[in-house]
Amino acid sequence: MEVRIFDTADEIAVACADIFTEIIKNKPDCILGLATGASPVKTYKELIRRYNNGEISFENIRTFNLDEYCDLPRDDKNSYYTFMHENLFNSVNIKEENVHIPDGNAADPEAHAKSYDAMIDAAGGIDIQLLGIGTNGHIGFNEPSDTFSDGTFKVKLTDSTIKSNSIYFDDDSMPRYALTMGINSIMKAKKIVLIATGEAKADAIKATVDGEVTPMCPASVLKNHPDAILLIDKAAAKLL
Ligand code: GLP
Repeated sequence: MEVRIFDTADEIAVACADIFTEIIKNKPDCILGLATGASPVKTYKELIRRYNNGEISFENIRTFNLDEYCDLPRDDKNSYYTFMHENLFNSVNIKEENVHIPDGNAADPEAHAKSYDAMIDAAGGIDIQLLGIGTNGHIGFNEPSDTFSDGTFKVKLTDSTIKSNSIYFDDDSMPRYALTMGINSIMKAKKIVLIATGEAKADAIKATVDGEVTPMCPASVLKNHPDAILLIDKAAAKLL
């Protein structure tokens, strides 16, 4: 696992967009694994800028998102479907049929999760997976647990995640469950880039980089990946 430390989130966005740009240029029909949350927003802005410059095209790209809340209408302002369209898809030439986000309202979540993984495999696997990290070390919505998860599954969110993410929701309406790619789905990606900024992520980054590989800090599994890069700022790197 490679760790690169930057002064600012803007520099991280450029470095991350550089990695994506190289892959997109080498393989215009690549498969991107995408993430939500505040961490990737600047990277998406930079990719939109490069698309507008004519540097990259999303015409033949297919995307698979990491996760989605359960029991939240797809067009809710807080759904990851809405997030991805507002922060990236509406501003580039991606075809809607090439966009994949787990359906948190699927009648049979288990069957849906299986078919989501099968679709990723049928597409040839993810060329590059973008990740953020939760303050508890979660990736996607893989919460600290006794075992590493396998494929996409329905997860009960922890109190810590509910606390972190409920700032976006009115009242107490934050969903308690989500569908997320599993650790094994994430680890199958050919390349993984994780972004973390700010002091709130320092403990999680310390456990990921210096701690043992343990499902109690899901991101620590990235040490077992042959091509994982952490792009972090000085505040997130504070305890290293
Ligand atoms: C959410 C998402 C994760 C994300 C994490 C951190 O829980 N499911 O994919 O990495 O939050 O979010 P942020 O980047 O806003 O700190």
